[in-house]
Parts: sequence; C-alpha cells; structure tokens
Amino acid sequence: MKKNDDLPIDDDALNEARQTFSEVEPKLHTFVLACKVKDIPKNGSRGKVIFCEHDEVAVYLIKGKVYAISNICPHQLSPLLSEGYINKDELTVACPLHGWTYRIDTGASVIGGGGVPTYAVKVIDDEVWIEDPAPRDLAPIWPDPLPDEPDSFD
Ligand code: FES
Repeated sequence: MKKNDDLPIDDDALNEARQTFSEVEPKLHTFVLACKVKDIPKNGSRGKVIFCEHDEVAVYLIKGKVYAISNICPHQLSPLLSEGYINKDELTVACPLHGWTYRIDTGASVIGGGGVPTYAVKVIDDEVWIEDPAPRDLAPIWPDPLPDEPDSFD
C-alpha cells in the first residue's frame, strides 16, 4: 500500500480548489424555535405570526404541512399576510389590504408585484423550527400602480 507521501500532488489543481473553496460564501441555516404545531390556526384559515430579529414571519398549517413566509407584504410593507385570504388548493395568500397575492410555498407573486421570502421549516415532534431570517433591505413597491380593476363584474 502506498503512503500518502508517495502520491503525486497536482499543485495547480490543489490551488484551484483552495481558491474556489475560499470564494464560497458559507450559508449557515440556523433554525429558531417558532411555536408548537398546535399553536398554528387549524385548517389553514390564517397564519401565526412569529417575530424574528430580522423579519416577521407568518407560519401556516395547510393540509398537514407547515410553511413559513415573511408576514410583510412588499406592496406597502404591511405586516398582514398572516391575516390574508388563503387559497388552500392553490397555496396562495392574498394581502387583506389591496389583494396582492403570493404563493405560500415559493413566495412568488401571483397578483401584484415583488415576492416574499420563504423560510425552511423543520417539525420535530410538536415543535416548529424555522430558518432564522437573514437581514434584508425592505423598500415598499408602492406607489407603483395597483392592478387594474375590471370595469364590471359581469
Ligand atoms: S399592502 Fe399588501 S397589497 Fe397593498
């Protein structure tokens, strides 16, 4: 058997690997205890608000699965997505102020603009742990115009 000292070393490849490794930004997912599963409104009727250092998070329990998104609607930075209208089949929540709507599983915009951050969730026994939100810049999308209203509801 060869000893390590006997193995040839490709110095160029080693230096390239070191360079690549030093440029990778470490992404540490720190989870924080948010609540108990039983504390989340049942049937996905609304969300539970969790206050983290860098964001206010809405936690939903829909069809047995827990989701966490920012509670802050990007339109006017209203902390109301936990109180929005939830479409459980389409996994969307509409902000109660002006109706901008986001996917609960991805945070993508469905109606309106922007998007909301989503946070990873771990359920351990009855405890809900959520990814601790990182600091982010918040700026309202308002006063961009709201979606056009229909002329009639025929
Ligand atoms: S603040 Fe949410 S839609 Fe306007």
